[in-house]
Amino acid sequence: MTHMHITSWVLAIILFIVTLVLMKMNNEKGAKIVSMITRLFYIFVLVTGVMLFMSMPEPTGDYHIKMLAGVLVIVMMELLLVATKKQRSTVLYWILFIIILLTTIYLGLKLPMGMKFF
Ligand code: HEM
Repeated sequence: MTHMHITSWVLAIILFIVTLVLMKMNNEKGAKIVSMITRLFYIFVLVTGVMLFMSMPEPTGDYHIKMLAGVLVIVMMELLLVATKKQRSTVLYWILFIIILLTTIYLGLKLPMGMKFF
């Protein structure tokens, strides 16, 4: 399950970047299609994350923080897509996105299931 979770969020981030590139290239139709597929992957990330959570007999408080951070990564990706589409400044969103993403990966790897690096 951790492999499915990792595959889902890696693909979600790749698709998110492809959507941004298409937006920058003014390929509106392409960006719309890829952003739909990106959203489908958000669902995979959420479902695999919740399944991991449920497979833990006694989840600690760290699990709640990990899940909240994971959901916030998805929120940040959507905010970045909307701001880019509307050609608003995205600097603050990018900074928050990177910080929350790194925190989420750190917490995921620190928690006991799957790989444990920290
Ligand atoms: C893009 C967002 C996300 C990223 C980058 C991410 C990253 C990670 C990483 C790196 C791991 C460790 C995998 C391993 O050790 O093999 C992990 C595990 C996990 N994730 Fe996520 N995740 C995200 C979203 C979510 C969401 C939305 C949820 C829940 C709703 C969630 C819940 C979990 C749980 C419960 C684990 C198992 C923790 C453990 O190792 O014991 N994640 N995630």
